Amino acid sequence: MSSLQGKVAVITGATSGMGFDTAKLFISEGAKVVITGRSQAKLNEAASQLSGDFIAIRADAASLHDSEKLIDQTLAHFGQIDILFLNAGIFGAYPVAESSEEFFDSIFSINTKGPYFTAKLAIPHLRPGASILFNTSVSNVKGMPGVSAYAASKAALRSIVRTLASELGPQGIRVNAVSPGPIETPIWGKTNLSEEEVNGFATGVSQQVPLGRFGKGTEVAETALFLSSDASSYINGAEIPVDGGMAQV
Ligand SMILES: NC(=O)c1ccc[n+]([C@@H]2O[C@H](COP(=O)([O-])OP(=O)(O)OC[C@H]3O[C@@H](n4cnc5c(N)ncnc54)[C@H](OP(=O)(O)O)[C@@H]3O)[C@@H](O)[C@H]2O)c1
Repeated sequence: MSSLQGKVAVITGATSGMGFDTAKLFISEGAKVVITGRSQAKLNEAASQLSGDFIAIRADAASLHDSEKLIDQTLAHFGQIDILFLNAGIFGAYPVAESSEEFFDSIFSINTKGPYFTAKLAIPHLRPGASILFNTSVSNVKGMPGVSAYAASKAALRSIVRTLASELGPQGIRVNAVSPGPIETPIWGKTNLSEEEVNGFATGVSQQVPLGRFGKGTEVAETALFLSSDASSYINGAEIPVDGGMAQV
């Protein structure tokens, strides 16, 4: 039997990259899926590449109003939520001396505040056996130069996972994180860095990966599937690295 048969999964930031790959995998495993993104055009494009039981809802991860709408529309359409994959996120890099309040606020609004309040809004509707999954990053346990705001936004998520796991465990709701290392996704073309700077950053990072390569979105999707399904029914408050060994050596 498909591992997510009968389950409803909400995946934020699923117009590209690992969110999109996870949506595809979850649908193939029998889930009914809600994908979100901030751009209607990108949502339409992603929807045109998926087939199965899914809907696309435009929702800015930084907006509590949009998160409320997301939960309401999901319940109106599918009647339940079993899996919440809080995946939407942005990346940017400035040495702290060149950082700005605007940059810091935008990283924390999208990467930290959004997932936190989307979880809060969904929790009253989750049943025992539900799973909440956050997308953190290898950077939350590293001190890589230039990524203080991004890394801190993800370290905050790691901490939130621990607290929510203990708050929600008694209700039979599990809370975990997947922690990707460098993964080949469109995120690298959406930063404040020039192409040359991205290439330099990518080369430096992949030299720190024992497997010596970037990962694929599908490799993260497989771990998201494991953590969202009953196969991981006794895993709670954990973070599983999908980083080629980068944070382990
Ligand atoms: N790629 C890596 O090396 C890496 C490593 C560690 C962790 N991560 C984390 O993995 C997650 C997925 O990233 P990815 O690499 O798959 O990149 P991606 O392809 O850019 O996917 C990010 C998704 O989030 C969406 N998004 C961004 N800001 C949003 C907002 N305000 N509201 C709603 N949706 C928003 C993007 O939509 P748009 O197309 O509109 O931007 C896109 O659908 C992120 O949380 C990222 O921090 C990535």
